[in-house]
Amino acid sequence: MKKGILITFEGIDGSGKTTQINALIQRLQEAGMSYRLFREPGGTEIGEKIRDILLDKKNENMLNVTELLLYSASRYQLTVSEIIPALEAGNVVICDRFYDSTTAYQGYGRGIDLEFIYRLNDIATNSVTPDKTFILDIDLEERRKRLGKKNLDRLERETLEFHRKVRMGFLEMAEQNPERFVVLDGNQAPDELSKKIWNVIKILKEIS
Ligand code: TMP
Repeated sequence: MKKGILITFEGIDGSGKTTQINALIQRLQEAGMSYRLFREPGGTEIGEKIRDILLDKKNENMLNVTELLLYSASRYQLTVSEIIPALEAGNVVICDRFYDSTTAYQGYGRGIDLEFIYRLNDIATNSVTPDKTFILDIDLEERRKRLGKKNLDRLERETLEFHRKVRMGFLEMAEQNPERFVVLDGNQAPDELSKKIWNVIKILKEIS
């Protein structure tokens, strides 16, 4: 029986997820709340190996469905071996990306059939759904500035058009499910953003 809450962070690369996750963890620690943090792809020994394959820029011949299945494989491993037990133990579980990234990147971005993706997401998560999902939204110009001269991985090297579709995918999903998603303008000051995120989490903890 699930006792904890699952919070996920989503957005295109450079949207500031890491900064906000770190700020949230600090607040959870100050409040004495037990938490677990995971990232996707990865979060387990097997998942981290899958992550290396997925992000390796040498793997430029990877086919779209191979990519989809690898993300899903990493997710199943993480969900069953780590996320579900952590939720059952009553933790606030934070995930740096979860299945919405698959819908946005492999569905909206790559153009794989969305119905197929929804079914696979359901399998890969054992039907676990986040209680809240924060989307940090920035536009592509801001993304370009933030990534700067970083050595880009296989996904980050994709075209602007790909990343435009991914961003639109996230925003469309949020529009379709306003109960679960909170879209935040990623251009706001980090402190402002972290206050807003914390207010949402506090309410969620009270009612759960
Ligand atoms: P990260 O840079 O946020 O750690 O994520 C790794 C990359 O993988 C990022 O470019 C987004 C991408 N991704 C997908 O394409 N599909 C997925 O299901 C996930 C979790 C990430």
